[in-house]
Amino acid sequence: MLDLNISDLRQHIIKRSKELGLSQLQRGLLLARFKILPFDRIHKLLPQKGRVLEVGSGHGILSLAMAMMSRERKVFGLDLSPGRVELAQKLVQGFGLSPEPEFVLGDAKGIPLGQEPYAALFMAEVLYLVPYEEQKDVFRSAGKALSSNGIFVVCELVIDWSVGSFVQRAVSRVLTIFSMSSWGRTLFGYRVKGAPFLRTKEGWLEIFQTNGFNIETVEIVRKTIFPHILIRGRKR
Ligand SMILES: C[S@@+](CC[C@H](N)C(=O)[O-])C[C@H]1O[C@@H](n2cnc3c(N)ncnc32)[C@H](O)[C@@H]1O
Repeated sequence: MLDLNISDLRQHIIKRSKELGLSQLQRGLLLARFKILPFDRIHKLLPQKGRVLEVGSGHGILSLAMAMMSRERKVFGLDLSPGRVELAQKLVQGFGLSPEPEFVLGDAKGIPLGQEPYAALFMAEVLYLVPYEEQKDVFRSAGKALSSNGIFVVCELVIDWSVGSFVQRAVSRVLTIFSMSSWGRTLFGYRVKGAPFLRTKEGWLEIFQTNGFNIETVEIVRKTIFPHILIRGRKR
């Protein structure tokens, strides 16, 4: 088995996205995930072994990273957008991981129950696209898909009083309005009305706690100027 690291993954994404004929803008958005997402911290909060599911896996880069960082994990990815699922399936090819992550179509509000429950779920920058009144349905669905004491790791945009948070809200609003156009749909592969549905730190903690999870760890990550909250909850 090859000893792969994050820089190998980045090189693979550059090569594969060129082979797939993605535009420079699309390639830039993929590479931005390496700057934005705290891969290492998410990896440390997840179990090293067993079945884990990324909810809202998009292009699949985070799933690929989690599969690469522990080969005893069997990683699955679920996304609402057929275009994203297809892109993830194509991007994974040729990286040389075994087992490779598997990507399927589905909704976070009704996670398909596999043959066995998942040891952990993880979700990055997805809840802010789910309307406030539907976010609790994601947590209830997560609770059903997890094994007893299963882990749920969420990395999400958070409202605080930093400049980055204000800029992020403005950028999110512009991007989600853009996502409603046909150009935006082609670029992002999904359409979002009314987003961003952001919460403060207390708001994200409350939705975990009132929907069947105990909080184990919380940190605010400032990898870029945009603050993210990283929460590990455990099913009660
Ligand atoms: C900003 S991308 C994040 C992708 C990936 N998690 C990452 O961090 O690189 C958001 C993804 O969430 C997906 N999504 C939005 N609402 C969803 C839902 N209700 N169920 C499943 N996926 C959803 C979108 O299709 C999109 O691929």
